[in-house]
Amino acid sequence: MKVLFVCLGNICRSPTAEGVFRRALEQAGLADKVEIDSCGVGSWHVGKAPDARAQQAALLRGIDLSDLCARQLTEQDFNDFDYVLGMDQDNLRAMRDLKPANSQAHVGLFLDFAGTPGAEVPDPYYGGDEGFENVLNMIEAASEGLIQQLKSGR
Ligand code: 4NP
Repeated sequence: MKVLFVCLGNICRSPTAEGVFRRALEQAGLADKVEIDSCGVGSWHVGKAPDARAQQAALLRGIDLSDLCARQLTEQDFNDFDYVLGMDQDNLRAMRDLKPANSQAHVGLFLDFAGTPGAEVPDPYYGGDEGFENVLNMIEAASEGLIQQLKSGR
């Protein structure tokens, strides 16, 4: 099983999702069953580590994002991954535009797994530290929901 998290820049929300979900997989004993990655629909930050504020907020919850490196979403990702999960509706539109017709991937919003279908993880880039806390809280909830879904094998 392969899961890809997608946001705009791949320096705030989707690397946070990758780090949080990696820990959730470890805690659920599924780390060797599920491969994960993250990327951005945009190319501005390709090659960069996650935003310092995202790294700091995650580290306060015991999650190290420092070795992650931003990359851009590609058409091939829709053949390589089973789940391609966006953070907001703009991400989702860009993802659907790029998705090849023959892709079998589940393409949707990550927060659908938090029991809040259609809800978005808001972009924290231009806001304060509380925005990064909010992102972490939402992503933790969605991670638990996705773990339950993967466990149930649906
Ligand atoms: P992300 O946040 O999509 O969560 O990585 C952003 C990072 C950078 C920009 C926008 C959003 N930017 O415009 O540079």
